[in-house]
Amino acid sequence: MLAPAHIPVLVEEAVKALAVQPGGRYIDCTLGAGGHAAAILEHSSPGGQLLGIDADPEALKVARQRLRPYSDSVLLLNENFANLKAICYKHDFLPVHGILLDLGLSSLQLNSDTRGFSFQRSAPLDMRLNFNQELTAAYIVNSYPETELAHLIKTYGEEGRSRQIARHIVRERPIKTTLELARTIEQAAGPRRGKIHPATKTFQALRIAVNQELEHLESTLRQAIDLLGYEGRLVVISYHSLEDRIVKQFMKQESKDCICPPNTPTCVCGHTASLRLINKRVITPSLLEVQSNPRSRSARLRATERIISQEEHYNIVERLCSTAEIKSNGNGWRKPAQLRKLRQVFAFA
Ligand SMILES: C[S@@+](CC[C@H](N)C(=O)[O-])C[C@H]1O[C@@H](n2cnc3c(N)ncnc32)[C@H](O)[C@@H]1O
Repeated sequence: MLAPAHIPVLVEEAVKALAVQPGGRYIDCTLGAGGHAAAILEHSSPGGQLLGIDADPEALKVARQRLRPYSDSVLLLNENFANLKAICYKHDFLPVHGILLDLGLSSLQLNSDTRGFSFQRSAPLDMRLNFNQELTAAYIVNSYPETELAHLIKTYGEEGRSRQIARHIVRERPIKTTLELARTIEQAAGPRRGKIHPATKTFQALRIAVNQELEHLESTLRQAIDLLGYEGRLVVISYHSLEDRIVKQFMKQESKDCICPPNTPTCVCGHTASLRLINKRVITPSLLEVQSNPRSRSARLRATERIISQEEHYNIVERLCSTAEIKSNGNGWRKPAQLRKLRQVFAFA
Protein backbone atom coordinates (compact mmCIF):
# COMPACT_ATOMS: atom_id res chain seq x y z
CA MET A 1 0.00 0.00 0.00
CA LEU A 2 1.30 3.48 -0.85
CA ALA A 3 2.01 5.68 2.16
CA PRO A 4 -0.27 8.73 2.21
CA ALA A 5 1.47 11.79 0.79
CA HIS A 6 2.47 14.66 3.03
CA ILE A 7 -0.21 17.38 3.11
CA PRO A 8 1.45 20.77 3.57
CA VAL A 9 0.13 22.85 6.47
CA LEU A 10 -0.96 26.53 6.42
CA VAL A 11 0.14 26.90 2.79
CA GLU A 12 -1.89 29.99 1.89
CA GLU A 13 -1.01 31.61 5.19
CA ALA A 14 2.70 30.92 4.63
CA VAL A 15 2.65 32.35 1.08
CA LYS A 16 0.87 35.45 2.37
CA ALA A 17 3.20 35.86 5.34
CA LEU A 18 6.22 35.56 3.03
CA ALA A 19 4.65 38.23 0.77
CA VAL A 20 5.66 36.10 -2.20
CA GLN A 21 6.01 38.22 -5.32
CA PRO A 22 6.88 37.54 -8.95
CA GLY A 23 10.62 37.44 -9.47
CA GLY A 24 11.35 37.00 -5.77
CA ARG A 25 14.01 34.73 -4.31
CA TYR A 26 13.09 32.39 -1.49
CA ILE A 27 14.62 29.72 0.69
CA ASP A 28 12.62 26.73 1.86
CA CYS A 29 14.77 25.32 4.66
CA THR A 30 12.52 22.29 5.16
CA LEU A 31 11.63 21.09 1.70
CA GLY A 32 9.92 17.83 2.78
CA ALA A 33 7.66 16.69 -0.05
CA GLY A 34 7.87 20.13 -1.68
CA GLY A 35 4.32 21.33 -1.00
CA HIS A 36 5.24 24.78 0.32
CA ALA A 37 8.04 25.09 -2.24
CA ALA A 38 5.60 24.45 -5.12
CA ALA A 39 3.23 27.11 -3.79
CA ILE A 40 6.09 29.62 -3.44
CA LEU A 41 7.28 28.92 -6.98
CA GLU A 42 3.78 29.27 -8.35
CA HIS A 43 3.30 32.66 -6.70
CA SER A 44 6.78 33.94 -7.55
CA SER A 45 6.39 33.16 -11.23
CA PRO A 46 7.57 34.57 -13.57
CA GLY A 47 11.20 34.84 -12.60
CA GLY A 48 11.03 33.48 -9.05
CA GLN A 49 13.87 31.38 -7.65
CA LEU A 50 13.92 28.93 -4.81
CA LEU A 51 16.71 27.35 -2.82
CA GLY A 52 15.33 24.21 -1.16
CA ILE A 53 17.07 22.35 1.64
CA ASP A 54 16.33 19.11 3.43
CA ALA A 55 18.55 17.04 5.70
CA ASP A 56 16.75 13.88 4.62
CA PRO A 57 17.94 12.51 1.25
CA GLU A 58 14.67 10.58 0.82
CA ALA A 59 12.62 13.78 1.21
CA LEU A 60 14.81 15.45 -1.36
CA LYS A 61 14.04 12.73 -3.94
CA VAL A 62 10.31 13.25 -3.46
CA ALA A 63 10.62 17.05 -3.64
CA ARG A 64 12.80 16.86 -6.75
CA GLN A 65 10.12 14.83 -8.50
CA ARG A 66 7.36 17.19 -7.44
CA LEU A 67 9.26 20.34 -8.41
CA ARG A 68 10.31 19.02 -11.82
CA PRO A 69 8.10 21.56 -13.67
CA TYR A 70 10.14 24.32 -12.02
CA SER A 71 13.57 22.76 -12.55
CA ASP A 72 14.99 25.95 -14.14
CA SER A 73 14.12 27.98 -11.07
CA VAL A 74 15.18 25.74 -8.20
CA LEU A 75 18.33 24.59 -6.51
CA LEU A 76 17.66 21.62 -4.23
CA LEU A 77 20.26 20.51 -1.72
CA ASN A 78 20.62 17.69 0.78
CA GLU A 79 21.86 19.87 3.61
CA ASN A 80 21.14 20.71 7.21
CA PHE A 81 19.58 24.14 7.67
CA ALA A 82 22.05 24.71 10.50
CA ASN A 83 24.54 25.48 7.69
CA LEU A 84 22.23 28.03 6.07
CA LYS A 85 24.60 30.97 5.82
CA ALA A 86 27.47 28.94 4.40
CA ILE A 87 25.11 27.34 1.85
CA CYS A 88 23.83 30.74 0.70
CA TYR A 89 27.32 32.19 0.37
CA LYS A 90 28.53 29.11 -1.50
CA HIS A 91 25.70 29.38 -4.03
CA ASP A 92 25.58 33.20 -4.09
CA PHE A 93 21.96 33.04 -3.02
CA LEU A 94 21.56 36.25 -1.02
CA PRO A 95 19.95 38.53 -0.17
CA VAL A 96 16.57 36.82 -0.36
CA HIS A 97 12.98 37.98 -0.14
CA GLY A 98 11.83 35.26 2.18
CA ILE A 99 12.87 32.27 4.26
CA LEU A 100 10.51 29.52 5.37
CA LEU A 101 11.00 26.91 8.08
CA ASP A 102 8.21 24.33 8.38
CA LEU A 103 9.65 22.39 11.29
CA GLY A 104 9.30 18.81 12.40
CA LEU A 105 8.69 15.75 10.29
CA SER A 106 6.72 15.03 7.14
CA SER A 107 4.14 12.27 6.86
CA LEU A 108 6.61 10.44 4.61
CA GLN A 109 8.96 10.14 7.58
CA LEU A 110 6.28 9.42 10.18
CA ASN A 111 4.69 6.72 8.01
CA SER A 112 7.97 5.06 7.11
CA ASP A 113 8.51 1.43 8.21
CA THR A 114 12.25 1.91 8.49
CA ARG A 115 12.94 5.33 10.04
CA GLY A 116 11.68 4.66 13.56
CA PHE A 117 9.92 8.02 14.17
CA SER A 118 6.52 6.54 15.03
CA PHE A 119 5.52 4.40 18.01
CA GLN A 120 2.66 3.02 15.95
CA ARG A 121 4.88 1.14 13.48
CA SER A 122 7.50 -1.47 14.15
CA ALA A 123 10.90 -0.19 13.03
CA PRO A 124 14.49 -0.11 14.27
CA LEU A 125 15.16 2.72 16.73
CA ASP A 126 16.85 5.05 14.27
CA MET A 127 15.22 8.55 14.09
CA ARG A 128 18.07 10.14 12.12
CA LEU A 129 17.10 12.64 9.44
CA ASN A 130 20.37 11.97 7.68
CA PHE A 131 21.88 8.47 7.60
CA ASN A 132 25.45 9.80 7.54
CA GLN A 133 25.06 10.83 11.16
CA GLU A 134 26.31 8.33 13.75
CA LEU A 135 24.03 9.02 16.72
CA THR A 136 20.78 7.02 16.63
CA ALA A 137 17.86 6.67 19.02
CA ALA A 138 18.98 3.06 19.67
CA TYR A 139 22.31 4.35 21.01
CA ILE A 140 20.63 6.81 23.38
CA VAL A 141 18.03 4.30 24.59
CA ASN A 142 20.55 1.50 25.15
CA SER A 143 23.66 3.37 26.33
CA TYR A 144 22.80 6.58 28.17
CA PRO A 145 22.95 6.42 31.99
CA GLU A 146 19.51 6.41 33.63
CA THR A 147 19.79 9.97 35.03
CA GLU A 148 20.86 11.37 31.69
CA LEU A 149 18.03 9.56 29.94
CA ALA A 150 15.50 10.89 32.46
CA HIS A 151 16.85 14.43 32.03
CA LEU A 152 16.61 14.17 28.25
CA ILE A 153 13.01 12.87 28.37
CA LYS A 154 12.03 15.62 30.79
CA THR A 155 13.77 18.45 28.92
CA TYR A 156 12.93 17.57 25.34
CA GLY A 157 9.64 15.77 25.96
CA GLU A 158 8.32 17.87 28.86
CA GLU A 159 7.37 14.47 30.31
CA GLY A 160 6.39 14.52 33.99
CA ARG A 161 7.01 10.78 34.41
CA SER A 162 10.54 10.90 32.96
CA ARG A 163 12.26 9.16 35.90
CA GLN A 164 9.85 6.21 35.92
CA ILE A 165 10.18 5.86 32.15
CA ALA A 166 13.99 6.03 32.21
CA ARG A 167 14.11 3.43 35.01
CA HIS A 168 11.95 1.00 33.03
CA ILE A 169 13.93 1.56 29.85
CA VAL A 170 17.20 0.77 31.62
CA ARG A 171 15.64 -2.37 33.17
CA GLU A 172 14.36 -3.64 29.80
CA ARG A 173 17.57 -3.07 27.82
CA PRO A 174 18.45 -3.96 25.13
CA ILE A 175 15.46 -2.39 23.36
CA LYS A 176 15.66 -2.81 19.62
CA THR A 177 12.43 -1.59 18.04
CA THR A 178 9.95 1.26 18.30
CA LEU A 179 7.16 -1.07 19.44
CA GLU A 180 9.34 -2.60 22.19
CA LEU A 181 10.13 0.92 23.40
CA ALA A 182 6.48 2.02 23.23
CA ARG A 183 5.46 -1.06 25.30
CA THR A 184 8.16 -0.34 27.89
CA ILE A 185 6.98 3.28 28.20
CA GLU A 186 3.35 2.17 28.54
CA GLN A 187 4.35 -0.19 31.38
CA ALA A 188 6.26 2.61 33.10
CA ALA A 189 3.72 5.37 32.66
CA GLY A 190 0.57 3.39 33.25
CA PRO A 191 -2.55 3.52 31.11
CA ARG A 192 -3.23 6.33 28.66
CA ARG A 193 -4.36 9.57 30.33
CA GLY A 194 -6.34 11.77 27.99
CA LYS A 195 -5.92 11.70 24.24
CA ILE A 196 -2.20 11.39 23.84
CA HIS A 197 -0.38 8.05 23.82
CA PRO A 198 2.03 7.63 26.79
CA ALA A 199 4.97 7.22 24.38
CA THR A 200 4.35 10.50 22.50
CA LYS A 201 6.56 12.72 24.66
CA THR A 202 9.45 10.27 24.98
CA PHE A 203 9.51 9.73 21.20
CA GLN A 204 9.53 13.51 20.70
CA ALA A 205 12.41 13.85 23.16
CA LEU A 206 14.49 11.19 21.44
CA ARG A 207 13.92 12.66 17.99
CA ILE A 208 14.91 16.15 19.20
CA ALA A 209 18.07 14.80 20.85
CA VAL A 210 19.12 12.61 17.90
CA ASN A 211 18.83 15.49 15.43
CA GLN A 212 19.85 18.36 17.77
CA GLU A 213 16.66 20.03 16.64
CA LEU A 214 16.52 22.89 19.13
CA GLU A 215 20.18 23.89 18.80
CA HIS A 216 19.88 23.88 15.01
CA LEU A 217 16.69 25.93 15.12
CA GLU A 218 18.23 28.64 17.33
CA SER A 219 21.34 28.92 15.22
CA THR A 220 19.39 29.01 11.94
CA LEU A 221 17.08 31.80 13.09
CA ARG A 222 20.15 33.95 13.84
CA GLN A 223 21.71 33.18 10.48
CA ALA A 224 18.46 33.94 8.64
CA ILE A 225 18.38 37.63 9.60
CA ASP A 226 21.58 38.43 7.71
CA LEU A 227 20.35 36.71 4.57
CA LEU A 228 17.15 38.72 4.28
CA GLY A 229 17.12 41.78 2.08
CA TYR A 230 15.05 44.92 2.48
CA GLU A 231 11.70 43.95 4.03
CA GLY A 232 12.58 40.29 3.55
CA ARG A 233 10.33 37.93 5.49
CA LEU A 234 11.13 35.12 7.91
CA VAL A 235 8.26 32.68 8.45
CA VAL A 236 8.33 29.74 10.84
CA ILE A 237 5.74 27.00 11.36
CA SER A 238 6.31 24.99 14.54
CA TYR A 239 4.52 21.97 15.95
CA HIS A 240 5.36 21.76 19.63
CA SER A 241 5.80 24.18 22.49
CA LEU A 242 9.59 23.87 22.76
CA GLU A 243 10.07 24.93 19.14
CA ASP A 244 7.41 27.61 19.32
CA ARG A 245 8.92 29.10 22.47
CA ILE A 246 12.31 29.46 20.78
CA VAL A 247 10.74 31.10 17.72
CA LYS A 248 8.52 33.42 19.76
CA GLN A 249 11.34 34.57 22.06
CA PHE A 250 13.74 35.06 19.18
CA MET A 251 11.29 37.15 17.17
CA LYS A 252 10.26 39.16 20.22
CA GLN A 253 13.85 39.93 21.21
CA GLU A 254 14.97 40.80 17.70
CA SER A 255 12.05 43.17 17.25
CA LYS A 256 13.12 45.29 20.28
CA ASP A 257 15.54 48.20 20.29
CA CYS A 258 16.64 47.57 23.84
CA ILE A 259 16.88 44.25 25.66
CA CYS A 260 18.23 45.53 28.99
CA PRO A 261 16.59 44.05 32.12
CA PRO A 262 13.33 45.93 32.97
CA ASN A 263 14.72 48.10 35.80
CA THR A 264 17.87 49.33 34.06
CA PRO A 265 17.71 53.19 34.20
CA THR A 266 19.41 53.79 30.83
CA CYS A 267 20.06 51.38 28.01
CA VAL A 268 23.44 49.66 28.19
CA CYS A 269 22.84 46.79 25.77
CA GLY A 270 23.18 48.72 22.51
CA HIS A 271 20.80 46.28 20.88
CA THR A 272 18.79 47.51 17.89
CA ALA A 273 15.77 45.83 16.35
CA SER A 274 16.48 43.86 13.21
CA LEU A 275 12.98 42.44 12.72
CA ARG A 276 9.41 43.73 12.77
CA LEU A 277 6.63 41.38 13.83
CA ILE A 278 4.13 40.83 11.02
CA ASN A 279 1.44 39.06 12.99
CA LYS A 280 1.16 40.06 16.63
CA ARG A 281 -0.84 36.91 17.30
CA VAL A 282 0.25 33.47 16.25
CA ILE A 283 -1.53 32.03 13.18
CA THR A 284 -3.10 28.58 13.57
CA PRO A 285 -4.95 26.35 11.07
CA SER A 286 -8.67 26.79 10.52
CA LEU A 287 -11.10 24.20 11.83
CA LEU A 288 -11.61 23.08 8.25
CA GLU A 289 -7.89 22.46 7.76
CA VAL A 290 -7.64 20.54 11.03
CA GLN A 291 -10.62 18.39 10.03
CA SER A 292 -9.15 17.56 6.64
CA ASN A 293 -5.58 17.17 7.94
CA PRO A 294 -5.50 16.29 11.67
CA ARG A 295 -1.67 16.50 11.68
CA SER A 296 -2.02 20.26 11.23
CA ARG A 297 -3.74 20.70 14.60
CA SER A 298 -0.65 21.75 16.55
CA ALA A 299 0.79 24.06 13.85
CA ARG A 300 1.68 27.63 14.82
CA LEU A 301 2.91 30.16 12.28
CA ARG A 302 4.93 33.23 13.19
CA ALA A 303 6.23 35.82 10.74
CA THR A 304 8.61 38.77 10.81
CA GLU A 305 10.05 41.28 8.39
CA ARG A 306 13.64 42.44 8.21
CA ILE A 307 14.30 45.98 9.33
CA ILE A 308 17.31 47.30 7.58
CA SER A 309 18.98 50.70 7.87
CA GLN A 310 19.12 53.07 4.92
CA GLU A 311 22.84 52.46 4.75
CA GLU A 312 22.61 48.66 4.74
CA HIS A 313 19.82 48.85 2.21
CA TYR A 314 21.88 51.14 0.01
CA ASN A 315 24.79 48.66 0.15
CA ILE A 316 22.56 45.77 -0.89
CA VAL A 317 21.09 47.72 -3.78
CA GLU A 318 24.55 48.92 -4.82
CA ARG A 319 25.92 45.39 -4.79
CA LEU A 320 23.12 44.09 -6.96
CA CYS A 321 23.19 47.06 -9.30
CA SER A 322 26.90 47.09 -9.83
CA THR A 323 26.92 43.40 -10.73
CA ALA A 324 23.89 43.70 -12.97
CA GLU A 325 24.80 47.13 -14.35
CA ILE A 326 21.33 48.51 -13.80
CA LYS A 327 20.23 51.59 -11.97
CA SER A 328 17.99 51.26 -8.95
CA ASN A 329 15.65 53.67 -7.21
CA GLY A 330 15.44 52.95 -3.51
CA ASN A 331 13.50 49.74 -3.11
CA GLY A 332 14.41 48.70 -6.61
CA TRP A 333 15.77 45.27 -5.82
CA ARG A 334 12.30 44.04 -4.97
CA LYS A 335 10.84 45.07 -8.32
CA PRO A 336 10.07 42.08 -10.56
CA ALA A 337 11.41 43.70 -13.72
CA GLN A 338 14.78 44.41 -12.12
CA LEU A 339 14.92 40.99 -10.56
CA ARG A 340 14.32 39.41 -13.93
CA LYS A 341 17.36 41.28 -15.18
CA LEU A 342 19.29 40.05 -12.17
CA ARG A 343 18.37 36.45 -12.86
CA GLN A 344 21.37 35.92 -15.09
CA VAL A 345 23.70 37.15 -12.39
CA PHE A 346 22.30 34.70 -9.89
CA ALA A 347 21.84 31.86 -12.37
CA PHE A 348 22.66 28.53 -10.81
CA ALA A 349 25.83 26.76 -11.74
C1 LIG B 1 7.13 19.22 8.15
S1 LIG B 1 8.29 18.69 7.00
C2 LIG B 1 8.21 19.90 5.73
C3 LIG B 1 7.13 19.65 4.75
C4 LIG B 1 7.16 20.61 3.58
N1 LIG B 1 6.97 21.98 3.98
C5 LIG B 1 6.13 20.23 2.52
O1 LIG B 1 5.35 21.10 2.12
O2 LIG B 1 6.13 19.08 2.08
C6 LIG B 1 9.81 19.08 7.73
C7 LIG B 1 11.02 18.69 6.88
O3 LIG B 1 12.14 19.37 7.45
C8 LIG B 1 13.25 18.53 7.38
N2 LIG B 1 14.19 18.96 8.42
C9 LIG B 1 14.02 18.92 9.76
N3 LIG B 1 15.11 19.42 10.38
C10 LIG B 1 15.97 19.80 9.40
C11 LIG B 1 17.26 20.39 9.41
N4 LIG B 1 17.90 20.69 10.55
N5 LIG B 1 17.84 20.67 8.20
C12 LIG B 1 17.20 20.39 7.05
N6 LIG B 1 16.00 19.81 6.98
C13 LIG B 1 15.38 19.52 8.15
C14 LIG B 1 12.70 17.14 7.61
O4 LIG B 1 13.56 16.17 7.07
C15 LIG B 1 11.35 17.22 6.89
O5 LIG B 1 11.46 16.72 5.58
